[in-house]
Amino acid sequence: MEKVGQNKTLWQHAAPPEAWIDEFTASADRRFDMKLAPYDILGSLAHCRMLEKTRLLKPDESRQISAMLKETYRNVRAGNFVIEEGVEDIHSQIELLLSRKLGDAGRKIHTGRSRNDQVLLDLRLFLRDYIRMTVEETNLLFSLLMDLSGQYRDIFMPGYTHMQAAMPSSFGLWFSAYAESLVDDLVQIQGAYRLINKNPLGSAAGYGTSLPIDREMTTDLLGFDDLNYNAVYAQMGRGRTERTLAQAMCSIAETLGRLATDCVLFVSENFAFISFPEELTTGSSIMPHKRNPDVLEIIRARCNRIKSLPNEIMLIGTNLPHGYHRDFQIIKESLIPRLSDLLNCIKRMHSMLSRIRVNETLRNDPKYQILGSVEAVNELVLKDVPFRDAYMQVSEQIRDGKFRPPNRVKYTHTGSIGNPGNEHLIRIKKKVIKSFGFERIDKMLDLLK
Ligand code: ARG
Repeated sequence: MEKVGQNKTLWQHAAPPEAWIDEFTASADRRFDMKLAPYDILGSLAHCRMLEKTRLLKPDESRQISAMLKETYRNVRAGNFVIEEGVEDIHSQIELLLSRKLGDAGRKIHTGRSRNDQVLLDLRLFLRDYIRMTVEETNLLFSLLMDLSGQYRDIFMPGYTHMQAAMPSSFGLWFSAYAESLVDDLVQIQGAYRLINKNPLGSAAGYGTSLPIDREMTTDLLGFDDLNYNAVYAQMGRGRTERTLAQAMCSIAETLGRLATDCVLFVSENFAFISFPEELTTGSSIMPHKRNPDVLEIIRARCNRIKSLPNEIMLIGTNLPHGYHRDFQIIKESLIPRLSDLLNCIKRMHSMLSRIRVNETLRNDPKYQILGSVEAVNELVLKDVPFRDAYMQVSEQIRDGKFRPPNRVKYTHTGSIGNPGNEHLIRIKKKVIKSFGFERIDKMLDLLK
């Protein structure tokens, strides 16, 4: 029998599969597996150390394998790495390189594991890094919103209900509302992170191995919070962790999408609450005057597409019994492109908002004078007129055309125009970000030393 090393699959049948089968089952997947390459190597480095400690590898074999893995890691980072034609996936490619170069030592790397736990592991390490980047970008957007909120704290903006001008609001309150929304989104992302940051390695094909592996050791080396204890459950996490993350991504997408919609509405000449410099707008092929907010519209559409992701992931795995199924592979096709979409949307929302111009003259616009009606009612309430009577008095003034809006609005309670509570939001946001504990995942990079 041919030794793996000359053969490109990790498995061999007496009758090899027909040529189209590789194309159909693996070709698109190799593109996504390229993103997993650095993580597959880090996982193998941890696995190799563990195999040496449990005497399943000799020190010399482990040294050779580690050296070769580190070299491959550098090649991946330098862009000098491919999954060769006919090689099924990233896991096969790395093993193939080790076997070609190291012979029998390389052919021992797969001891006590399966591609099923390998891909689970790779995805978790990859998603962990992605979450960290997303949290960093979200934090930058949060800070910008806080700055804008402070800068425009007292600048009047009409508040709407039913899309009808309703109550006095402010740009400060509007910006800060989206900042608080991002804080809640971070809490959701952290929920997903807690599920993702558990080690599935060692669950092998989904039922463990009779070899004396040490799962706690790889958990520690890879900087996981904990492990998925039950090998069967570890495999059941495929799709579940991705869906949980997708749901948290939806939450950010909802915040961004709504903010984008507000901005699209508010740049319209019918509102003219805000504007952006011409360099941030696009034009029309026929109408020379157009300055279109395409960036915001693209953000909105990408965010809406992200909202379909949990559904898509859930449906791919619907009614599958426990255990590994190749179906799971397709989830990568849905999820991976959406990760960079969301990251880009957060960055580009930041680019737009950092150049936003606010209309500071809306308070003087006659059409918004009527928004002082509740303030007039409240002034009477402070003079001990029962609320309903005060309401009727002002209502009559409006009906008779005699209403004169009070010239000041006074808001003092937490979360209102006069006191948006930004210092609390900053405090909570810091606490949420700190409790991710991202510094612990850097430990995994020690494997490269
Ligand atoms: N590409 C596969 C996936 O994403 C890797 C695992 C393959 N495992 C298997 N038993 N064929 O699921």
